[in-house]
Amino acid sequence: MSVIRSRIVGCGSYLPSQVITNAELARRLDTSDDWIRQRTGIRQRHVAKEGELTSHLALHAAERALEDAGMAAADLDLIVLGTTTPDETFPATATRVQAALGMQRGIAFDVQAVCSGFVYSLAVADNFIRVGQAKSALVIGAETFSRILDWNDRGTCVLFGDGAGAVVLKAEPGKGDGSDRGILSTHLYSDGRFHDMLYVDGGPSATKTVGQVRMEGREVFRHAVTKLAQAVDDAIAANGVTGSDIDWLVPHQANKRIIDSMGAKLGLPPEKVVVTIDRHANTSAASIPLALAEAKADGRIKPGHLVLMEAMGGGFTWGSALARW
Ligand code: UT7
Repeated sequence: MSVIRSRIVGCGSYLPSQVITNAELARRLDTSDDWIRQRTGIRQRHVAKEGELTSHLALHAAERALEDAGMAAADLDLIVLGTTTPDETFPATATRVQAALGMQRGIAFDVQAVCSGFVYSLAVADNFIRVGQAKSALVIGAETFSRILDWNDRGTCVLFGDGAGAVVLKAEPGKGDGSDRGILSTHLYSDGRFHDMLYVDGGPSATKTVGQVRMEGREVFRHAVTKLAQAVDDAIAANGVTGSDIDWLVPHQANKRIIDSMGAKLGLPPEKVVVTIDRHANTSAASIPLALAEAKADGRIKPGHLVLMEAMGGGFTWGSALARW
């Protein structure tokens, strides 16, 4: 049966130049490089300078993804931007990126699914393409999480970083089986009963302030391991593949121990898991496209490879996407 697939034809990423190491955090907080590395795998994080906004990071990543795809902004029908840290309450940061790219037509909007934001945005764009409402799409994950951190809370502020990543999708005909290149499946889930485990204690309607991240880290960890396993199992079952068919696991980068447990669950050797958390920390919606761009640029991800993505975040929201490169 002939189907329309969304093929990933370009990747790009951008990290702000300012780097903050664990040692620097340990000078102003009751923490240590040793604790942060052992419990999370993080060595450092990039942090946007004042005046460097989510839309700026997103724009750089978008330009690089378009260049990698050999496409111009005028070729795009759609921009979907996953972010929890928009420039402003409204309009959507995606529309700022649209204007900055010089794109004068098409659709641009944000998706709010916190750390699952890229997987959610990818699924939304893929659905637009598969029903024929767009022939091409730019999917971005971009965050300045540093702006919503409580820099006195060692349980959260050491975990996050800023950055952006983007992919370009293009509609292509496929046979409808696993040999097609492009996104083969997406699985999304949410369960709002877990709000209090990971949330921001402010917002335009609730407090008229931006608020700061609050997290029950140990509980989130526990749920992440089981919920991500469900998302991964569903992706594998839906496509009739096994863990050993996966060429690359490109997970959301929240904690190295969670990443390792997903790799082990799939029976993948560590070399097949793309890890950036040591250098980027948790960049929320940006972590997967940052990792994709890195693994594509250094030649690890090659045409024909099977790439499994998974993420979990506040809400809770979680999900997976399986793509053949
Ligand atoms: O991307 C969205 C999804 N987010 C996640 O998936 C994050 C999931 N959670 C985690 O990654 C981990 O739970 C954390 C890294 C946040 C915490 O690691 P943990 O092994 O679960 O530690 P814990 O929260 O159980 O805390 C253990 C101890 C506590 O001290 P006591 O009560 O045992 O005396 C904490 O107060 O470590 C203490 N602690 C710290 N110590 C030094 C917490 N944060 C720090 C810190 N430095 N930064």
